[in-house]
Amino acid sequence: MSAISTVTSVRDPFQLIRQHLQVDSGRLPSISVDAQRDSVLASDRAERFRQDLNNVHRGRVLTEFLAQAEMHLWVVPLVLSAEKSSYFKSILSRDEQERAGRFRKIGDAQRYIAARGSLRSLLGEYLRIEPDRLQFAYDAFGKPRLAGEEPLTSIRFSVSHSDDLALFGFARGHKNGVDVERIRPDIDVAALAARYFSPNEFKKLRSLPPDHQREAFYCGWTRKEAYLKGRGEGLSFPLDRVEVSLTPDEPAMILKASGDRDVSRRWIVQHLSPAPGYIGAAAVEGRDIAFRCFKYEPVS
Ligand SMILES: CC(C)(COP(=O)(O)OP(=O)(O)OC[C@H]1O[C@@H](n2cnc3c(N)ncnc32)[C@H](O)[C@@H]1OP(=O)(O)O)[C@@H](O)C(=O)NCCC(=O)NCCS
Repeated sequence: MSAISTVTSVRDPFQLIRQHLQVDSGRLPSISVDAQRDSVLASDRAERFRQDLNNVHRGRVLTEFLAQAEMHLWVVPLVLSAEKSSYFKSILSRDEQERAGRFRKIGDAQRYIAARGSLRSLLGEYLRIEPDRLQFAYDAFGKPRLAGEEPLTSIRFSVSHSDDLALFGFARGHKNGVDVERIRPDIDVAALAARYFSPNEFKKLRSLPPDHQREAFYCGWTRKEAYLKGRGEGLSFPLDRVEVSLTPDEPAMILKASGDRDVSRRWIVQHLSPAPGYIGAAAVEGRDIAFRCFKYEPVS
């Protein structure tokens, strides 16, 4: 479930996020002199990226498809037929099946099964391994990876889900992160931005026409979260110590991040509109990496 949607379901809307954040108003490094050139490069890249969600794959992905200089993004629907759901359940590990059983709402359990089952299926296709044989291990902050040795560990992936949609990212060797959020009309984006965006970002957001601010907030949030998930720290890292471009029209970029001096040169970010009412972002560490986007339609 997405962090943003979670915050509205508790009495203190910031409580859950606050648990993960140690907000520190420490200063960000200044923007590098190359920032303008990076912005032009990001703009060119965005021009070249064509999000083609008619590009539907039923899971026949050849390993060769994922070239060294590519990041693959998969938009994955989480509402499935009973038949597909039961197939996905059958390929989960015992731990995963137990986790599915602990959800209080049946819809949440089904979405979890759909997400893990799709992730296993796609990884299995890339690696030519039966999906139920894959084993996951977890990094210090909870990021999953494949357990084992090469070639299993050559693919790095990232997962995000929000309501009925998931977004997965896959790259060979490159650290990467994704985030997808359903745009919620009931969230006070100005209050969230005041708390979690940097002073510069907050000022910029509030200077936009009021009817653009919600979308800009979600663009900013997903770019930050994709980057932090790519680093593996997730929301344990203060969000206001990462600065990003904010609107769908600007090239998606990480402008500054505490402790990551050349971040705008070393990380590439891609904005996504994966479905009506959703916004997504992907971030990958590397210079010349092309994003390709597919929509997954699982077979049972
Ligand atoms: C990861 C995190 C950003 C999730 O945000 P979210 O918007 O609620 O959820 P999303 O749907 O976008 O992402 C969830 C997925 O992120 C992945 N994930 C979990 N921890 C992660 C991390 N540290 N870095 C990157 N990805 C992570 C998982 O695949 C998870 O999905 P899954 O549980 O179904 O496999 C947030 O929970 C977080 O920051 N966690 C780490 C916080 C922490 O400090 N943990 C300390 C150890 S308890």
